[in-house]
Amino acid sequence: MSLPFGRIHNFSAGPSALPVEVLAELAEGIYNHEGAGMGVMEMSHRSPEFEAILAQTEADLRELLSVPPNFRVLFLQGGASTQFSLLPMNFGDGGAHIITGTWGQKAVEVNPTAKVVHDTGAPYRSIPTSLEFSVDAPYLHITSNETIQGVQLPSFVSANVPVVADVSSDILSRPIEFDGVGLLYAGAQKNLGPAGVTIVLIRQDFLDRAKCDVPMSSYSVQAKSGSLYNTPPTWSIYVTGRVLAYWKRLGGLPTIAAQNAAKAKLIYDAIDGSDGFYLGHADRDARSQMNVTFTLRDASLTSTFLLLAEAVGLSGLAGHRSVGGVRASLYNGVPLASAIALADFMNAFAGAKGL
Ligand SMILES: Cc1ncc(COP(=O)(O)O)c(C=O)c1O
Repeated sequence: MSLPFGRIHNFSAGPSALPVEVLAELAEGIYNHEGAGMGVMEMSHRSPEFEAILAQTEADLRELLSVPPNFRVLFLQGGASTQFSLLPMNFGDGGAHIITGTWGQKAVEVNPTAKVVHDTGAPYRSIPTSLEFSVDAPYLHITSNETIQGVQLPSFVSANVPVVADVSSDILSRPIEFDGVGLLYAGAQKNLGPAGVTIVLIRQDFLDRAKCDVPMSSYSVQAKSGSLYNTPPTWSIYVTGRVLAYWKRLGGLPTIAAQNAAKAKLIYDAIDGSDGFYLGHADRDARSQMNVTFTLRDASLTSTFLLLAEAVGLSGLAGHRSVGGVRASLYNGVPLASAIALADFMNAFAGAKGL
C-alpha cells in the first residue's frame, strides 16, 4: 500500500515518522499562525500567541497521559542524554540504577556516583524477574523501553524511593501508572514530535528536593519560569502540540495503544511464524511494542534483506550496530499500513529463501 505525498515506510529509531495528517497541517504554523501575520518560528516566545501554544500543549499532554495535578510539566532542551547528568546535579550523589540495555548503561556512565542495583547484562534480552526494589538512594532510575535491544518493562518498578524513568521511546504509547513516580523524561523525537524539546514530568514534592546552582540545569529554576527561563525550542513545542491535538481527536491513549499492539503483533507474528528463519532478540515477556528487534538465522542474508527492503520502500530497518540484525521501530506516527507492508515483506523474503 503506498503512502501519501510519495512517502516511504519509515522505521527509523528516531527522529522518526510523524502522523502525515499533522505534517499536512503545519503550513499554517509556518506562514501565518492563527492570523498573527507571522509563523510560530518567527514569534516571540513571550508573545501571548506562543504562551497559548505552550499552555495548550501542556494541557493536552496532561489530558492524554492523565498526569496527576501534583506533577509539573517542563519543556527543556538538551535531549534525554542531558537528563542523565541533570539528575545527580539536582538530586545528589548515589542515585540507584537498573540497567536493562544500552540507554540505561549510558545513564550510569555519566554519573560516577551511580549505584547499579540490577544489570541484566549483554546481550540484554530480558527484564528483571522482580519489579520490586528497596534501595538506599535519592531515587531509582529505570529505562522503560530500551530502544536498541527492543526490551520493554511491562510496567514501572515499585520502590521505596521516587522512581525516575527514561521514557524516551515509549512515552504516550500506553497508559502510565504515576504512583511512586518522581520524575519522567523523554526526548520528543520518537512518539511526540520533532527533535529539540525534552519533556520532563516531575512530582512537586520531588521537585522541592532539587538543588542545583546552574540555572539552565536546575529543575526548580525551569519550573519557576514555566519553561521560559531562556528561549525554548518554540517550533518543536508547537509541532508536539499539533501531534498531541491529533491524538486527542483520534481518541487518545486507547486508540494509540490499540494501534501499537496491532502493529507490533504483525511483526512478532511474522517472526514467530517463520519457523526460526527470523529470531527475536528479546525474550517474549520482554518484547517491546515500539522497537521490534530480530536477527536472521542465516546472518549472511541480513544485508540482502535490508537492501531489498530499502528497494521496496521499507526504510530505517538496520539494527543498531551493537546488536546487528534488524530493528523495526513502530512509534505512534508509523501507520498500520507500514507494519502490514513490513510483515508481508518478511513473509515473502523468508518464503523466497526457502522457509
Ligand atoms: C531510551 C533512550 N534514552 C535516551 C536517548 C537519548 O536521547 P537524546 O538523543 O534525546 O539525548 C534515546 C535515543 O534514542 C533513547 O532511545
